[in-house]
Amino acid sequence: MRIGLVQTAPLFGAVKQNLADACTAMASAEANLWVLPELFTTGYQFASFDELERLAESIPDGPTTHALIEFARLHDCAIAAGLAERDEGRFFTAGILVDPRGVALRYRKIHLFAEEKQWFSPGDTPFETIELEGVRVGLLICVDHVFPEAARTLALRGAEVIAHPANLVMPVYAQITMRTRALENGVFTVTANRIGFEYRTSQPLTFTGCSQIVSPDGTLLYSGPADTVDVAVVDVDPAFARDKALNRWNDRFADRRPLLYDARLSGEQETD
Ligand code: ACM
Repeated sequence: MRIGLVQTAPLFGAVKQNLADACTAMASAEANLWVLPELFTTGYQFASFDELERLAESIPDGPTTHALIEFARLHDCAIAAGLAERDEGRFFTAGILVDPRGVALRYRKIHLFAEEKQWFSPGDTPFETIELEGVRVGLLICVDHVFPEAARTLALRGAEVIAHPANLVMPVYAQITMRTRALENGVFTVTANRIGFEYRTSQPLTFTGCSQIVSPDGTLLYSGPADTVDVAVVDVDPAFARDKALNRWNDRFADRRPLLYDARLSGEQETD
């Protein structure tokens, strides 16, 4: 499978231009699966619900989803991308995975970061994976990388590739955690980040680039630049992600002791 990522520099609110730039970048190379950043058409830092109302789209009926499906049909590929979703008065930072047949997977970011909590609802969809031409793929969005349970759940549900649209602002952090997520779960991870600067509220944000692709043994297969737009493709063998053995005695999945694990804090109840 050939995996590609695009590291973009979106202009806030310029949805059509940002979409066109991402499509031009994808058209410059060939891949079976492309990964684009989080909120890749809108930009990141919303400052009002009016903006969200104006810029967020419904899935699967919105224009960005349609355009990505059209691109997937034309180029016979799949695309994982993050976008602002509107659904009955609520907003989500959502991820979709489209292929020539339509939307194969939709995920709503479960862990919200900083000011996102003002605007977006936390995701209410379970972690799911889908098969793309024999390869099982799952989605995480940006700060989900901090929570090992998220990647682990996808891996236990069969993910061999974790597509990770991101708008990262903490330098280095996700480059380390996603390498760890790949290694601890024996999966490929593909983090597509953006670059640029937004200062639309009281919080200036610099997006940190350094998009990356990691193999199931933690090897950095690709590491992008910090401050320029970028397109990269890497050939991977998904079979590598099916072997969870560490040695002849240990296996990352078979050796787990799930009945002795509890991901809750002491005394914490499940609320949702
Ligand atoms: C982030 O979750 N966009 C940092």
